[in-house]
Amino acid sequence: MKVLLAGATGAIGSAMVPQLRDAGHEVLGLTRSADGADRLAANGVRPIIADVMDADGLLRALDGEQADAVVHQATAITGMPLFHRSLYATDDLRERGTANLLRVAAALGAERFITQSFFLGYGYRDHGAQPLTEEHPFAEPTGHRGIDRHMRSMRANEEQVLGTGGIALRYGMFYGPEPMTRKLFGLVMRRRLPVIRGAGTVPPIHLHDAASATVAALERGRPGHVYNIADDHPVNFGRYVGTMAEIAGAPAPGSLPAAALAVLPYLHALMIATRIRLSNAKARHDLDWAPAFPSIREGLAASL
Ligand SMILES: NC(=O)c1ccc[n+]([C@@H]2O[C@H](COP(=O)([O-])OP(=O)(O)OC[C@H]3O[C@@H](n4cnc5c(N)ncnc54)[C@H](OP(=O)(O)O)[C@@H]3O)[C@@H](O)[C@H]2O)c1
Repeated sequence: MKVLLAGATGAIGSAMVPQLRDAGHEVLGLTRSADGADRLAANGVRPIIADVMDADGLLRALDGEQADAVVHQATAITGMPLFHRSLYATDDLRERGTANLLRVAAALGAERFITQSFFLGYGYRDHGAQPLTEEHPFAEPTGHRGIDRHMRSMRANEEQVLGTGGIALRYGMFYGPEPMTRKLFGLVMRRRLPVIRGAGTVPPIHLHDAASATVAALERGRPGHVYNIADDHPVNFGRYVGTMAEIAGAPAPGSLPAAALAVLPYLHALMIATRIRLSNAKARHDLDWAPAFPSIREGLAASL
């Protein structure tokens, strides 16, 4: 397949490029910068310089091109999101950015479309001990301005894509050989990352496995379906930091009460209020996919 990859220079895009190439696909990579274009070209990707938020510019940059598939992995999180506003640009990419890329897909004649969705679409709250399947509905509005804005964009992203026969991948929390994981390891080594007492539970996914699931979905995903993409072992944030310290041979981390995160509302919603386990059974079955790193213990050791 010829695949247009939006977010080709990013954390998951970079992990996807070699896997797409190894599977025999040709990759056109979107980036906004000449520097990004140079990096893509060095990795065997034909760069297309355009901004996903500029529909006309995007169509102009791809005028005369053809592709079989479009994959939307563009996000604008830039570091650990602390406040709800840290996610507003990503919300826009999930709403208007998706609409623009769907227009591009139609112009390219692409028959497959995959978009990055997120486990937090199920809602920033305690979902209990039962793993959520894809049958579980996305959360209803809560009355909280920031959370509802994220929820609206995650819902709009999926609805637009599923409505045209595309596929949405509800990834867990990314980690792997990428800047944020490296930064967290650095903080753990200097004993600057405390364990939060009473922290919540999230479903992690190593970037290598997120990328392999995406390639599998491109090849074998059912049109109009969503898939949870997570490893086999949800992790409490306290255990996450403790495991990092063990693997890195760092001093035992200190600890803080959950109330200490009240001044960082987004981080509090993610790390304290949320307890989610995801079932990955549908992805295993339909996509013939399994995570190479079933838990953060193997995945973090490989990322160090
Ligand atoms: N599921 C998760 O847990 C999850 C989800 C997303 C991100 N993250 C994490 O958040 C951290 C930072 O992520 P990030 O989103 O800042 O950066 P990133 O993953 O490094 O990359 C974002 C990608 O989106 C592209 N992009 C952004 N806005 C664009 C636009 N308007 N037009 C075209 N392309 C656009 C960027 O391309 P150019 O800059 O080359 O134009 C880049 O390729 C990473 O550590 C990542 O692991 C986690």
